[in-house]
Amino acid sequence: MLAVNKISKTFKSGDGGIFNAVDNVSFKVKQGVFASIVGPSGSGKTTLLSLLGALDRPSSGSITVDGQDISKFNDHELTNYRARNVGLVFQSYNLIPNLTALENVMLPMEFVGLGKLTREQRARELLNQVGLSGDKQQRKPGKLSGGEQQRVAIARALANKPKIILADEPTGNLDSVNGKNIFNLLHELSKNQKTTVIVITHDISLAGKTDQRFSLTDGKLQKDKDLPRSFR
Ligand SMILES: Nc1ncnc2c1ncn2[C@@H]1O[C@H](COP(=O)(O)OP(=O)(O)OP(=O)(O)O)[C@@H](O)[C@H]1O
Ligand SMILES: [Mg+2]
Repeated sequence: MLAVNKISKTFKSGDGGIFNAVDNVSFKVKQGVFASIVGPSGSGKTTLLSLLGALDRPSSGSITVDGQDISKFNDHELTNYRARNVGLVFQSYNLIPNLTALENVMLPMEFVGLGKLTREQRARELLNQVGLSGDKQQRKPGKLSGGEQQRVAIARALANKPKIILADEPTGNLDSVNGKNIFNLLHELSKNQKTTVIVITHDISLAGKTDQRFSLTDGKLQKDKDLPRSFR
């Protein structure tokens, strides 16, 4: 369902030259698959994820989602596509501090024109589903733990029933227990809801638990056979 065909992303380097942050990458991920991307700092992981999430366009190559080439979309089409098809989760949660957990989850549904009651009901269900129940739903992010904030961020990413969830180091700011819980939650989502989940992680043992693993070095995708045995 997600097919990446020879995509590259070129940036200007400090010395006035250009370099490929993502270099001729191709792969396919089927619906409902839980996939991970690993690689050293600066290897192009976040750049690749932002291309998959249509936050940015590739310099060359194509990305098709269910047969639609999103790399050809104009700005308006990209915004629409993103709001309806992609759920993003960041390392730093990116919640809006002066809104409650519930209001944070309701926000993306405003964009697609759902009424307030529906938004509120669905936001409650989503928060219950990620394990944040009761009065915590009415708290602002500053009064929730890191793991709880990350749960809110995941509930928010799910709000518009996206086909794809993209998560950039979603467990990076959490201790190992909370990190594992969030990882398991993302895994369950891919299995129960047939959502495709792609996570960037530096935790090789967590990555080893995913269905499909991609490793980047200098913007290039490594072949499976070149990965450590424990990781294949
Ligand atoms: N907007 C930009 N303009 C110029 N260079 C950029 C831009 N964004 C990223 N880069 C460069 O592209 C390369 C890949 O960056 P990217 O953020 O994708 O790495 P990463 O694998 O996510 O690293 P980390 O693990 O540290 O988050 C780096 O050399 C980075 O400096
Ligand atoms: Mg990054």
